[in-house]
Amino acid sequence: MLSQRLLLALLSFLVPASALWPLPRQISTGNSTLKLARNFDIKISLRNAPKDLQDAVSRTKGRLQSDKLERLVVGRGGADAQAVRGGRATLSGLTLSLLDGAPVRSISEEAVVDVVSRSEGYVLHVPSDGSAAVLRANSTLGLLRGLSTFEQLWYDSDGTTYALGAPIDITDSPAYPYRGFMLDTARNFFPLSDIKRTLDAMSWVKINTFHWHVVDSQSFPLVVPGFKELSDKGAYSPTSVYTPSDVKDIISYAAARGIDVIAEIDTPGHTSVISKSHPEHIACPEATPWGSFANEPPAGQLRLASPGTIDFTTKLIKAASKMFSSKFFSIGGDEINTNCYNNDAQTQTDLAGRTFEEALDTFTQATTGALKENGKVPVVWEEMVLEHNVTLPKETVVMVWISSEHVAAVAQKGFRLVHAASDFFYLDCGGGGWVGDFASGNSWCDPFKTWQKSYSFDPTASLTAEQANLVLGGQHLLWTEQSGPENLDPVVWPRAASSAELFWTGPGQDAGAALSRLHDVAYRMRKRGVNAIALQPQWCALRPGACDLTA
Ligand SMILES: *[C@@H]1O[C@H](CO)[C@@H](O)[C@H](O)[C@H]1NC(C)=O
Ligand SMILES: *[C@@H]1O[C@H](CO)[C@@H](O)[C@H](O)[C@H]1NC(C)=O
Ligand SMILES: *[C@@H]1O[C@H](CO)[C@@H](O)[C@H](O)[C@H]1NC(C)=O
Repeated sequence: MLSQRLLLALLSFLVPASALWPLPRQISTGNSTLKLARNFDIKISLRNAPKDLQDAVSRTKGRLQSDKLERLVVGRGGADAQAVRGGRATLSGLTLSLLDGAPVRSISEEAVVDVVSRSEGYVLHVPSDGSAAVLRANSTLGLLRGLSTFEQLWYDSDGTTYALGAPIDITDSPAYPYRGFMLDTARNFFPLSDIKRTLDAMSWVKINTFHWHVVDSQSFPLVVPGFKELSDKGAYSPTSVYTPSDVKDIISYAAARGIDVIAEIDTPGHTSVISKSHPEHIACPEATPWGSFANEPPAGQLRLASPGTIDFTTKLIKAASKMFSSKFFSIGGDEINTNCYNNDAQTQTDLAGRTFEEALDTFTQATTGALKENGKVPVVWEEMVLEHNVTLPKETVVMVWISSEHVAAVAQKGFRLVHAASDFFYLDCGGGGWVGDFASGNSWCDPFKTWQKSYSFDPTASLTAEQANLVLGGQHLLWTEQSGPENLDPVVWPRAASSAELFWTGPGQDAGAALSRLHDVAYRMRKRGVNAIALQPQWCALRPGACDLTA
């Protein structure tokens, strides 16, 4: 690990010219300024190139024209004008091909391959001798990752598109197979255009999983075939819904960008809104004071001990999981409130002498069984293995959210895990209280998690070498009690890019050295219509190091 860190530290000095994010695992650069030829073209050297790869190439060509990002140095594009005018090296083309023997499948097919065998590596050679650049990979998904790297090489100076540091040689692949972003579309609703814009931005930094926390106690925007009453009665409005064709649209949009969509129907808690259409299935619906029955209003949980509710829930999970192409589906399992069940006469009757834990086990085996019938692997929140005594399939993936200190306990139980801890990756922390009539309230996970905080995370701290193999990766998460379309981009970007690099390039890098590259991410995102926020005054962004505390 130390040698890898040294290598990465060295690399950050050797690559002053480019601002790639995530930093490739191996890169070497030269000294030449390279102009993009006016007739530059990208060729796919494949028989029957998949449509989504052709589309990805078109998007890359479009961005090479439209980014027009001037380098973040004093004088911006003008600072390089002389080198660009004087430079003789021109790049006329980029050729994409698959490595020997690799099967030709679409990006969309490759994006939903089992996460541990997904192929995202690529090799990119950008020469300075007038010959064409070459991008090779074992999959079209790897080619897509290489294209996003290639796009980040280019800047604009007075209408000329150019790169510095050619020739450039990159051999790249992710340190961790799972690099995600979670969005809650239940506390507040997000139109498809917001989700698509977010998927675009995710793909630019090689995030490969969209964890869609689609429904919760407050609203049920997902239209599930056979369960239309849930969204009819539970969505915020008739238009604040995701229809099956919307879902297909999101899945195919994501897949074409190398992103797998893991949906979540949280159970048995976080289900109050189901009482609007199925009061028979919900214990303590909207009970007050809500604080005695739930972690946030409104209270209400599935009657997990009732055979009718188990039947309803398994059918719902089956129908909902069938809408998604991912191997994974989340059944949630967080924040189950026992007081709610203790006060629900129906549940007490249904328990019929069983303990609550026994009933939860029966319930969970039914929901995971429903997933298994659909060929899906369950994803659960950490409480399912740390606070409850339920039987879970051994391939279950556990998301550690309450605290990063709970990671070792999950690993000890032998489950694969995804880092999603509130103390590093929650984007909503530090936003102040949202519970009304409590002016002095804080967000429960204060303080605000800076990008540097997330970036400093060590995915294998507290784990043995063997347990470290259980770590699939990690993700930033946006719970949307205080977010909507209005602030989606600013609250997510560029912060969520920090975990994208952490889990692609690997941990142990210096945030100080990364800052100037992350500025590039934010400036380039803005060029592409994503409202990423400033990390510093522009004066500092143009003068790397000049605003360091000790500068
Ligand atoms: C880059 O320039 C340095 C000195 O300016 C030189 O020593 C080195 O050989 C050059 N490298 C390449 C790849 O041209
Ligand atoms: C392609 O696959 C081979 C065989 O598994 C592997 O050695 C190589 O590193 C892969 N190349 C890339 C660019 O991922
Ligand atoms: C957990 O459940 C198993 C059976 O499913 C039982 O044998 C064991 O005693 C339970 N443990 C606790 C702590 O409840």
